[in-house]
Amino acid sequence: MTMVRMTTHTNGSSAPVTVTVTVIGLGAMGQALAGALLDAGHRTTVWNRSPRKGEELVARGAVRAGSAEEAVRASELVVVCVVDHEASQQILAPLTDALAGRVLVDLTSDTPDRARTSAAWADAHALDYLAGAIMVPVEVIGGPEALIFYAGSQSAYDRYEAVLKALGAGAPFLGPDHALAAAYDMAMLDFFYGSMAGLVHAFALARAENIPAAAIAPYLRTIVNILPPIVGGTAADIDAKAYNGVGANLAMMTAGVDHVLHASRSRGLDTSQLEAIKAVSDRAIAEGHGADSWASTVEALGG
Ligand SMILES: NC(=O)c1ccc[n+]([C@@H]2O[C@H](COP(=O)([O-])OP(=O)(O)OC[C@H]3O[C@@H](n4cnc5c(N)ncnc54)[C@H](OP(=O)(O)O)[C@@H]3O)[C@@H](O)[C@H]2O)c1
Repeated sequence: MTMVRMTTHTNGSSAPVTVTVTVIGLGAMGQALAGALLDAGHRTTVWNRSPRKGEELVARGAVRAGSAEEAVRASELVVVCVVDHEASQQILAPLTDALAGRVLVDLTSDTPDRARTSAAWADAHALDYLAGAIMVPVEVIGGPEALIFYAGSQSAYDRYEAVLKALGAGAPFLGPDHALAAAYDMAMLDFFYGSMAGLVHAFALARAENIPAAAIAPYLRTIVNILPPIVGGTAADIDAKAYNGVGANLAMMTAGVDHVLHASRSRGLDTSQLEAIKAVSDRAIAEGHGADSWASTVEALGG
């Protein structure tokens, strides 16, 4: 049974206002998602493998299902968020009959290949399936800064867009290929972890020179603030395969990497990530990109 209250918007489209929605997986993120759905007034059913999680959600009005199947059958919209796709498949694979006629949204993070495998499973069972990838920590869920990518069933996205936006105002639909959400996720995380590794190494190098992290942190904002135009410019260069190095060329910047590498080595720091960076830029220079922009190192990365 599905319970949907509909409203007619000024543009004439009908969209659900409150829906029955199930959240499977009550780890830190699943609890945040269920909390946001409760905040938005949706009738929320929850289930978790370990039964004691989510007491606060139940106190706020969520219904705890006795089994994953009961949870699926309780709602028209089923959101899953567990550790990885192996776990989500362990839960969902036995429930294809229960899932029929509902919309399944899997917000579990994993690789594009595993997203493809899950999408093939959903397709084989004719399930209406949206894949998602959450790009923000739990505190941001439900707010205007939250970003969750969606891909797969366009009709499911269109029907439940307002509900999905209760989880995060940033909710772009990337296209019908379910793997796109995971692919965007991986690229975003690639940037994030590379940046975090550089940030922590910078603090280690400062510490080796007896500079407290807090002393240099305010100045690092200068680097952070020049990144937005660099992101846009680098993207434009890479898409156009045009790497104009006027103003800052790769050979000059690689000399800069070499300085950081030697300064780190002389203080006994691990230099493996700097050596990896330099190996790529050296290869790009050897391929003729010394006078080009840093973006040209993409040509030395393969793929
Ligand atoms: N937390 C974040 O800041 C954040 C940000 C972006 C994306 N994400 C993504 O959100 C997803 C969930 O993260 P989380 O922070 O909620 O993780 P978590 O707190 O570690 O919770 C993991 C969840 O997965 C369940 N689980 C693990 N293996 C299972 C299995 N074999 N069968 C059934 N359930 C299983 C756990 O159930 P039990 O309680 O029974 O162990 C629990 O509900 C992950 O894909 C993560 O990458 C998280």
